[in-house]
Amino acid sequence: MLSRRILCSTRRLNTLHRPFSNASKTVASAVYTGSPNAHDPAVNSTPELTQEQHQILDTALRVDQAGEVAANWIYNGQLFVLGRDPKVGPLIQDMWDQEKKHLMVMDKLQVQHRIRPTVLSEVAKVAGFALGAATALMGKEAAMACTEAVETVIGEHYDDQLKEMEALPSTHPSIPLLRDVVKEFRDDELEHLDIAVENHSQRAPAHALLSTIVGGGCKVAIEVCKRI
Ligand SMILES: [Fe+2]
Ligand SMILES: [Fe+2]
Repeated sequence: MLSRRILCSTRRLNTLHRPFSNASKTVASAVYTGSPNAHDPAVNSTPELTQEQHQILDTALRVDQAGEVAANWIYNGQLFVLGRDPKVGPLIQDMWDQEKKHLMVMDKLQVQHRIRPTVLSEVAKVAGFALGAATALMGKEAAMACTEAVETVIGEHYDDQLKEMEALPSTHPSIPLLRDVVKEFRDDELEHLDIAVENHSQRAPAHALLSTIVGGGCKVAIEVCKRI
């Protein structure tokens, strides 16, 4: 199963060189702060970007931005309910802080590339908050099961997107940049998945059903946001 394979590889990555607090400080920070190392597409004009590359960037950035909006509101909802819990409260806050960085980067890339955001941004906020709060009200394990399901789908989504981008020629600075961002974010999301599992997501009541519903909803949302 992909999530199990990704889980193992993520643990290996974490063991090697990725303390949690240092995540999202490389490519993402470079993009957000406008470092010259970030292959800033605002600096590099885009005449050689093909129609196909434009289409891939358009779809990828729209859905990724929407996903980060939803993730932020899920953690917001979870923290609203569990913020005072001494164990999971700080964990949820840390993951939310990371999602805030993801969203800042996606917002910047969306503006740089003049991508139209999904028309469902407000729906994503409400649905995300409701999902986070509802699962948190079911208990800490259910909140972690929600995180496990969401981050599994998002991790797989970023992994698929990375494969799609690796097949593209690196003739334009936007493609390598986005590839680096997606790789970094995929690793961050899978780290969130690991945290959820380590904090007993699989002890949640009706774990399999909850995972199916939440994961299925995320997959549908991804496909919808690619189009509108
Ligand atoms: Fe994220
Ligand atoms: Fe995440």
